[in-house]
Amino acid sequence: MAFLEVSSLHKSYRIGAATLSVLRGLDLLVEKGEMLAIVGASGVGKSTLLHLLGGLDTLDEGTIQIGHADVGSLPDADIVAFRNAHVGFVFQFHHLLPEFSALENAEMPLRIARRPLPESRLQAKALLGRVGLGDRLTHRPGMLSGGEQQRVAIARALVMHPSLLLADEPTGDLDEHTADDLHLLIREMHREHGLTSVIATHNPRLASACDRVLRLADGRLWAA
Ligand SMILES: Nc1ncnc2c1ncn2[C@@H]1O[C@H](COP(=O)(O)OP(=O)(O)OP(=O)(O)O)[C@@H](O)[C@H]1O
Ligand SMILES: [Mg+2]
Repeated sequence: MAFLEVSSLHKSYRIGAATLSVLRGLDLLVEKGEMLAIVGASGVGKSTLLHLLGGLDTLDEGTIQIGHADVGSLPDADIVAFRNAHVGFVFQFHHLLPEFSALENAEMPLRIARRPLPESRLQAKALLGRVGLGDRLTHRPGMLSGGEQQRVAIARALVMHPSLLLADEPTGDLDEHTADDLHLLIREMHREHGLTSVIATHNPRLASACDRVLRLADGRLWAA
């Protein structure tokens, strides 16, 4: 069985009297350990799909099975628990908390999960070291470069040891060289952490670093 299985997924947005139908019967199978890129024109629904996979938004019709969880039908409280335990997110804009240090940002998911501080600190430190920021622990996001901020976001996404990594245009805001370094890091972290990864991107180099590329168009996924 696939690790992630999406069947007949439908999602529309209602804006006043109008309905915008974004996902229209989308099917997707992702094997455990696979690193999948999703490409497609701006506005086709890549972010919408990632939000649904991570339980950040609710679907209209269809099913999303991730591991043993039927994500589409979990009650709200269970969705939050599922997300915290199993899903790591990296967004285009890192969404780090500006008033907290790199270390505090990276350990935040563990703190929210009420893990003991010394253990959280050690884990977050180790991950920040791994992403190349061992000497930036006390820097706040505003004192870090864009690439460094995104490295903190990657550490934060992985600190709970998720099984699924969802990345939405993770290097969209970076220069080419910095982006390429990040692509390499994402690939390495994917392998080291035994992740299954779904990455929405406009970047052909990131897409080609993935195991498989699918194109989102007309509300469904197609071979790219
Ligand atoms: N909360 C919302 N309410 C109404 N419409 C929305 C909402 N979120 C997204 N949309 C619309 O749904 C469509 C798909 O948006 P989405 O953000 O998923 O596209 P995308 O493929 O990620 O685009 P990009 O490559 O620019 O990030 C767009 O037309 C967008 O305007
Ligand atoms: Mg998007």
